[in-house]
Amino acid sequence: MEEVIEKATVLVVDDERGPRESLRMILSPEHRVLQACSGAEALEILGTEQVDLATLDLNMPGIKGEELMRTIRGEHPMVEVIVITGCGTLESAAAGIRSGICDYLQKPFDVVQVSASVTRALARQRARNRLTCFLEQLGEVVGRDRDAHAILDDVQRSQKLKGRLGGIFAGSSGADSHGRSLDPPRTLEFLEVLSETIETKDHFMKGHARRVAFYASLIGDRIRLSAEEQARLRIAAFLHDIGKVGVPTDLLVHCGALDPTQRDLVEQHPVIGARLLEPLDIPTSVAAAVRHHHEWWDGSGYPDGLSGEEIPLISRVIGIAEAFDTMNGDRPYRQALSRRAVFAEFERFAGIQFDPELVKEFLAVLETGICDVDADYVADVISETEIVARGRAAAS
Ligand SMILES: [Fe+2]
Ligand SMILES: [Fe+2]
Repeated sequence: MEEVIEKATVLVVDDERGPRESLRMILSPEHRVLQACSGAEALEILGTEQVDLATLDLNMPGIKGEELMRTIRGEHPMVEVIVITGCGTLESAAAGIRSGICDYLQKPFDVVQVSASVTRALARQRARNRLTCFLEQLGEVVGRDRDAHAILDDVQRSQKLKGRLGGIFAGSSGADSHGRSLDPPRTLEFLEVLSETIETKDHFMKGHARRVAFYASLIGDRIRLSAEEQARLRIAAFLHDIGKVGVPTDLLVHCGALDPTQRDLVEQHPVIGARLLEPLDIPTSVAAAVRHHHEWWDGSGYPDGLSGEEIPLISRVIGIAEAFDTMNGDRPYRQALSRRAVFAEFERFAGIQFDPELVKEFLAVLETGICDVDADYVADVISETEIVARGRAAAS
């Protein structure tokens, strides 16, 4: 049986027949092409037809192209937009790109240019559909679709994230109807972007995952974990809070004490995180480490109340790294702790919250001064490897 490949639908919007026809001729061998000769007609079609991509002329009578562009971005966010115009300026191009259009072409256009631009836009659209699928699944796992949509909105708003996700999904070798078949390195890259997206929910958490991975790897080095364990530690540390995708944003940025129901929701995040990672192609110990990163040495942590060495080693390391990151940064309700206060806090909670042996190792790491890099600098500017190299050079 012949395989049916669904053609993408492109809506060509131009008041002049000439360019409309030539676009139709260029695009119709590969795509289903619809035409509109005004903004009003375009909106009507968008309301009734499933359109993947619209090409817009800016200079039309009635609804102007710019206005149409904004309406499409707002009301039909899944439709990609390419502006094709004879009267474009650098400013209008820049404004268009900022508002999320995919490309900006000048008339007269040529076949190669148009085809390439359309192919790119449709790849971007497919990538976004896969992301939506994944996030819907995520919604099923975390039982809260609202948050999956909120995340997607965050992604939409951030050009940087969008660019990276576009790259990840466009470069993956296709996906099944659930958007699942990302190859493993891509899966990791995707989770990395997802965890950064979660951090955008809470300004104080920005860079947290990256910093925790950095501090955790310093402890891992110190206690001489094997290269393989180190790799798992870094991944788990990076993803430890990925389950926060299932926690409503208002709780993440909540100041002051949470009521018991709110606390239950927040305390779900290690379980949700582990459930998200389990079906993926990463070592099961990583999911386990994520599940147990809030267990306490004395058994009073969550979710399972494990104690002592029942808690996976990687989780114990992450627990210390993350506590340090929290103490070391300003929070909505207090300033960063001084180094002396940090030492005192770790000593006070060694054997209660933290593995006492690991605390000793971590305090020794702290004493080398390797962690005195500006925390946001760590997160934003230089890569983890560079920091480790610089830190080692500084400590020797
Ligand atoms: Fe954390
Ligand atoms: Fe956490």
